[in-house]
Amino acid sequence: MAEPVEIITPVLKHASVDALPEPDRELVRLAHEAALRAYARYSNFQVGAALRMADGTVVTGNNQENASFPAGICAERTALHAAMSQWPEGVVVDMAIVVPSITGDRAVSPCGICRQALLEQEFRQNAPLRLLMAILQGPVFEVKRAGQLLPMSFDASFLRS
Ligand code: THU
Repeated sequence: MAEPVEIITPVLKHASVDALPEPDRELVRLAHEAALRAYARYSNFQVGAALRMADGTVVTGNNQENASFPAGICAERTALHAAMSQWPEGVVVDMAIVVPSITGDRAVSPCGICRQALLEQEFRQNAPLRLLMAILQGPVFEVKRAGQLLPMSFDASFLRS
């Protein structure tokens, strides 16, 4: 007989950006500013990300699209790879993701490829990477570890070292 396995992802919902502590609000502000610099001429869907590293360094990114659509890259990976290419030993503690122009009250959560990249980063740094998914006029969703968005994921533990 098959045994059901329940997978629960703990997500925190904050009422608004104003309900966050100042360091988080600043990260959301910077992600918002980054979104406004996105190159999103094909989708018109601007996304910004801002991450803070353990030493306080903040790095931002936004989506960069391409006429050959799959060549484009999301805001989250732009920020993450920019940070890690400069500080390969860096520890990314927090990342805010903001979409300024979204309708309704649903913040954007990272796509599957970005979830995989964020999970890899958690393995790489052996520490959790906290995510804030925000819109300016509405709730902010938080996960304490990016990997919580990717249950039953494939990671380094499956590969022989
Ligand atoms: N996009 C991101 O940058 N991050 C996300 O979390 C979701 C999607 C971008 C990719 C593409 O440039 C545009 O949004 C529409 O999919």
